[in-house]
Amino acid sequence: MSEDRTRGVALVTGASQGIGRAIAERLAREGWDLALVARRAEVLAEVIASLADSGVEAAAFPCDVADSSAVEETVHQVLERWGRIDALVNNAGISRDALLIRMKEEQWSQVLRTNLDGSYHFIRYVAPGMMKMRAGRIVNITSVIGQIGNAGQVNYAASKAGIIGLTLATARELAGRGITVNAVAPGFIETAMTQDLPESAVKELFERIPLRRLGQPEDVAALVSFLLSEDASYITGQVLNCDGGMVMG
Ligand SMILES: NC(=O)c1ccc[n+]([C@@H]2O[C@H](COP(=O)([O-])OP(=O)(O)OC[C@H]3O[C@@H](n4cnc5c(N)ncnc54)[C@H](O)[C@@H]3O)[C@@H](O)[C@H]2O)c1
Repeated sequence: MSEDRTRGVALVTGASQGIGRAIAERLAREGWDLALVARRAEVLAEVIASLADSGVEAAAFPCDVADSSAVEETVHQVLERWGRIDALVNNAGISRDALLIRMKEEQWSQVLRTNLDGSYHFIRYVAPGMMKMRAGRIVNITSVIGQIGNAGQVNYAASKAGIIGLTLATARELAGRGITVNAVAPGFIETAMTQDLPESAVKELFERIPLRRLGQPEDVAALVSFLLSEDASYITGQVLNCDGGMVMG
């Protein structure tokens, strides 16, 4: 990729905690320079401090992924610093659960704007540089909920199913330029997003996991790392599950 010293420049959204942070840590160990995006600069600063020993360059780019012009400006800043973005990981996401008939418009649109529009915004502004390089990797984090649905999560399920459609259409558009675009569908991963679920819901979910353990952020990070590696250069337009077997086939 860019220089002998590094694997290239990877931009990871939602990198302040959970799965995004695990992805950043994994990619740093593998020698990727990192542009880390989340809303709060101070939390990103803490992540960057923890990566200091890895020897890669990592910088924080605080940005709300739902804000198209902020994303355009962020991508501009990353390109000003490194001159290239070799890999994009659209991981930032939120849930705002409620049953369909009680869900407020704001809950619906916040989730769609962050999860789906946010992924679109980054692809929109990162893709032109990748197209010029005739190389690049894009990984979008979807969810098993976008594949099988979940009561109380119509907004989240719609956003994550939308990310799958976005991934497939983008993969077709960009394949001719040597860019791969894939989605990763985590199942139940232990992070802040899942920690407040009632015990009964956790028990019910657990019973649907054939491998009989909850997933860890590092499980997802390992799959993302593979998709960004040379070994994955012939894989595009796929949705790869990391879910302990919750969704099979
Ligand atoms: N935890 C799970 O079980 C699970 C399962 C399937 C999919 N996922 C997906 O994985 C991704 C990461 O989830 P997590 O569990 O690590 O969640 P998390 O809540 O721990 O982290 C979410 C990250 O996204 C960032 N973020 C949220 N809104 C943002 C915005 N508007 N702009 C910029 N950054 C924003 C947060 O700052 C944080 O860094 C999400 O897309 C989530 O939907 C999680």
